[in-house]
Amino acid sequence: LQASEGTQELVIPPLLEKQKGSEFDYEVVAQEGTTQFFDGSPTKTYGYNGNLLGPTIQLKEGETVKVKVRNELSEPTTFHWHGLEIPGTEDGGPNDVIQPGESKIVTLKADQPAATLWYHPHPHELTSKQVFKGLAGMLYVEETETDTALPNTYGVDDIPLIFQDRLFDENHQLDYENLMNSDGTIGDVSLVNGTLNPKLTVTQPLMRFRILNGANARNYTFRLSNGATFTQIASDGGLLREPVETDEITLSPSERAEILIDFSAMDSDEPIAITDEEGNALLPFDLDLNGETGGMESISWTADTAFLTEEEKSLPVTKEIELYGMMDMVTINGKKFDPDRIDLRQEKGVPEVWEIYNKPDEMGGMIHPFHIHGTQFKIISRDGREPAPNEQGLKDSVLIEPGERVRLLVTFPEEGIYMYHCHILEHEDNGMMGQVEVY
Ligand code: C2O
Ligand code: CU
Repeated sequence: LQASEGTQELVIPPLLEKQKGSEFDYEVVAQEGTTQFFDGSPTKTYGYNGNLLGPTIQLKEGETVKVKVRNELSEPTTFHWHGLEIPGTEDGGPNDVIQPGESKIVTLKADQPAATLWYHPHPHELTSKQVFKGLAGMLYVEETETDTALPNTYGVDDIPLIFQDRLFDENHQLDYENLMNSDGTIGDVSLVNGTLNPKLTVTQPLMRFRILNGANARNYTFRLSNGATFTQIASDGGLLREPVETDEITLSPSERAEILIDFSAMDSDEPIAITDEEGNALLPFDLDLNGETGGMESISWTADTAFLTEEEKSLPVTKEIELYGMMDMVTINGKKFDPDRIDLRQEKGVPEVWEIYNKPDEMGGMIHPFHIHGTQFKIISRDGREPAPNEQGLKDSVLIEPGERVRLLVTFPEEGIYMYHCHILEHEDNGMMGQVEVY
């Protein structure tokens, strides 16, 4: 498959503009459109307020906004705010279906630390298809005061990167029904922010990238092609306790990481790109630096409190979750999702320890990315070991290897019915999902 014009400058999703003088602050419309990925026939795609993906929504820490959501697709959808700690009624899970032509207003309160979150559809059995066809967008909670000196000029030195893989048929269509794999649809084409064959012109020496694994099923290990290190500053739910210097980051579907790359320290004659684990250049950089140095020196902070207290670490396990199976035989605790069944109950504001066990099968099993709605949790341990430094931060999704037992400290700040599920979207659609009622 050939891109229409070779390498393209990376598309930066627009910022969603606030509405003035209406009963809501923002409007998000799920709609059908077309995108010209290749020479010849355009591809039919889905997007929010456009043809593909959606605008970036920026909320301020503590801010409450009203968002009008509207479904202009020809099938039901929902609007889920992944990672936002809001009441179950606003969460947009599979029980909150909006029929074609309908709309509603939801209230989003960003009562949590600054973080890179995202939004996507969640209608039961249709999530994987709708995301595959293009529905996803970034949702930022922004710091009100900045004392970290982090780059934060959107689209200049603070760039969203939505990594996705896609499969196209011979007519250049995202024909999900024919292309899908019930164990997770893995593509052979890489898109970043919906751009095929992207490159990014870098003008600032110190760049912040907010990376989302927006794939249906693929796990990514990101590296730099020149082997250079970079600095992870945030996990799913906000800044890490301290920056972590590393040369690779692995993200399973729906996980995020914010990183800083200091280009001033790099040899610009060498090609520099973000690659995957096989060395494929997913995002090449074109350096056009304006001379200054990176200023990494001013970016550092040290945690003044422990990630988890001794008391938190020694809490007993009160929720046991067993992930099992593959293809359409996936289950949680031996069951498939039933919208009429509450699987777990937990009191609002009271932390509990969830132990997630990924039970292998005869074939060995596979990684399941486990996600809980309505909470940012902390990883207590992986098979009894302390989590890696870059996982010592707030999380809403966690990669779980076959055979692994991962303990999470989970607190829900709001009430309602929330989903927990595997974020391989085909597994989720195949019922690898349960419901917790927070009271
Ligand atoms: Cu990304 Cu149930 O969600
Ligand atoms: Cu799974």
